[in-house]
Amino acid sequence: MTAKLIKGTEIREEILEEITAEVKDIKEKHGVVPGLVTILVGENPASISYVTLKIKTAHRVGFKEIQDSPSADIAEEDLLALIDKYNNDDTINGILVQLPLPKHIDEKKILNAIDPDKDVDGFHPVNVGRLMIGGDEVRFPPCTPAGIQEMIVRSGTETSGAEVVVVGRSNIVGKPIANMMLQKGPGANSTVTVVHTRTKDLAEHCKRADILIVAAGVPGLVKPEWIKPGSCVIDVGVNRVGEKISEKTGKKIAILQGDVDFDAAKEIAGSITPVPGGVGPMTITMLMRNTLKSLKFKLGIQ
Ligand code: GUN
Repeated sequence: MTAKLIKGTEIREEILEEITAEVKDIKEKHGVVPGLVTILVGENPASISYVTLKIKTAHRVGFKEIQDSPSADIAEEDLLALIDKYNNDDTINGILVQLPLPKHIDEKKILNAIDPDKDVDGFHPVNVGRLMIGGDEVRFPPCTPAGIQEMIVRSGTETSGAEVVVVGRSNIVGKPIANMMLQKGPGANSTVTVVHTRTKDLAEHCKRADILIVAAGVPGLVKPEWIKPGSCVIDVGVNRVGEKISEKTGKKIAILQGDVDFDAAKEIAGSITPVPGGVGPMTITMLMRNTLKSLKFKLGIQ
């Protein structure tokens, strides 16, 4: 059996079209568009490419977009002042501070300074708490977990009563997606197990999973014999395992590998996300959705 591929690249297109249409409608009715500021400190090449893509996507869906790129030696208090400026800017609905930040800056202090109502990454403790409570309380689900849940739902996978096993307990993926899948409501209602580096028998847990979500950052960690036949496998791993020359551009690009042994797993699973082209494209898409959501809350049309 060959699993159905859950393609993030295709789901991204569907969602970005939905967002574009909604932005147009809001602009006609209310005369405003969502505003997103990206703050990129320094010149980390990976961060530059992520932020460039975020900016390009914001343009595509019709957002107002501001880029602020202070140099790597900006003082912490100056970065805090910059955030304060955008917290008080009425045309800005989302503030994105690209991580990681330079060592001399306290990341937690910076993220906690963002107005929770503009925290479209969903990293502020207030939004983490809202997510935990669930239901109407949730404002900005963090982008990668939100993308994962969307992929599960749009692939037609039943979540209610499903055994969900999450491999990895990070604040950005493992903990929030586990929390989201156990909430009461559509696209959730699952029985959730979180496994991690100290779990005694990783394989045994994975074998029970109707939906297996792997965010461990270990290339090829999940072996085919750990996968329940017919299950849904979401591979969040994006591991750089080498470099190659792109056929399209002739430039050097990273060879990416997921946390799941894809070639073998696709013969057992019912559906599976590829790497690349799976969860990756969903993260920026969900950032756009959160920014739109922020404006809708402000306008009282959520
Ligand atoms: N760096 C890597 N991923 C992310 C993300 O989702 N948000 C932010 N702000 N920085 C990142």
